[in-house]
Amino acid sequence: MSIAYLQCIEDACRRRQDPKKDVNACSFCGGLVEVKYDFGAVDAERLRHEWHQRRLSGEPIDRSGVWRFRELIPFVELGDRIVSLSEGSTPLVGTRRAGWWAGPVHLTIKHQGNNPTGSFKDLGMTACITRADARGVRMVACASTGNTSSSMAAYASRAGMKALLFVPYKQISAAKLAQALDFGALVVEVGDTFDEAFRLLREIAAEMGLYLVNSINPFSIEGQKTIVAEMLEQRAWRPPDYIVVPGGNLGNSSAIGKGLRELKELGFIEKVPRVVVVQAAGANPFYQTVSAGSEELLAVDDPHTEATAIRIGRPANWKKARRVLEWTHGFCECVTDEEIFEAKALLAEDGVGCEPASAATVAGVRKLVRAGKIERHADIVCVLTGNQLKDTEYIMHHRSEGRRSRRRLRVEPDLEALRKALDKAFAVPV
Ligand code: F0G
Repeated sequence: MSIAYLQCIEDACRRRQDPKKDVNACSFCGGLVEVKYDFGAVDAERLRHEWHQRRLSGEPIDRSGVWRFRELIPFVELGDRIVSLSEGSTPLVGTRRAGWWAGPVHLTIKHQGNNPTGSFKDLGMTACITRADARGVRMVACASTGNTSSSMAAYASRAGMKALLFVPYKQISAAKLAQALDFGALVVEVGDTFDEAFRLLREIAAEMGLYLVNSINPFSIEGQKTIVAEMLEQRAWRPPDYIVVPGGNLGNSSAIGKGLRELKELGFIEKVPRVVVVQAAGANPFYQTVSAGSEELLAVDDPHTEATAIRIGRPANWKKARRVLEWTHGFCECVTDEEIFEAKALLAEDGVGCEPASAATVAGVRKLVRAGKIERHADIVCVLTGNQLKDTEYIMHHRSEGRRSRRRLRVEPDLEALRKALDKAFAVPV
């Protein structure tokens, strides 16, 4: 018997769902649902030691940075197959220039771009697909701004399932689209925004009985929350002052908050870091909602930002993320595309590459320090959600062909021409 169950998050409802069915919405009130556990007594010291020991193990389940912490996600039954690609175990790296620029603050990067398909989505996907597999699902589906889709395509292949994905037409990066195609997913380009594609998918999913693996799937949140255990372990269980994440559909911030809350309740940590969500200024529904203290989501109908991963106007998980800000005394900020570009360039000066959405975190820290909301020299972990190579069009546009192109020369294959070109290039400080 599993100790896991699904429960509605709405205070007025909080009802348990039918254990025989996996649902993404409450069968009584339609609210979001979450996975809950009867954890019983937990010996935090013993578990910390065991998790640490597993790092030396060669077993696939222990090589995974998600399943190494399996006591935190005990929804798997004995005999269930774990569908893993050795996700997680991502680096925590310090910064010099970026931290100075953003504060000065003590800025550390948790780089989720180092996952099998290049984004944090792999943590949620191993959990979701493992669950789907145990339930006998043969086809999974999602709508995506590109990362969930590449991750779903990979893990579905691994499990021998079919993958159906909806993406907004011409609105996701070529690399992300290529990944999904390479893993053999059926790609449907539909609508102009993620929100439209997602709405259509949800409607058709109900008709067709599709198993969705977006972040509204509560098991995806379970996989993603393990980032917190891994990060704290890497820091010898010393929590930072702030954990900063970019906000799109708000699954990641919800997961991080849930992870922190459970680790606190189970006695792993005393202090809870404040969770900060950073959105793009042109796609900032959560920022607007939180700032206005609104009980309804203030959706953005025409979201726009070059950080296409977070170009979302109606985040499905906003109520979960709002709880996280309450629990952790966190807040939400938004930054312009120009600020995102600057932050990405500063990270690059530290040798850290990422996709634009991820750099929003560092831009957000700078803005918040300047506004006096984050104190100078604070201890901050920014979660970089996606790999640098996820969006090379952005880089080529800004760094090679656009107005900021400074480091690309085309030279005739002739020594004299080369000398001249290099002299000229080095004469100008860059
Ligand atoms: N960063 C990246 C690189 C993302 O791909 C996403 C979301 C986010 C941040 C925001 O995370 O949605 O949990 O708030 N990408 C989703 C996708 C929407 O379809 O790949 P979130």
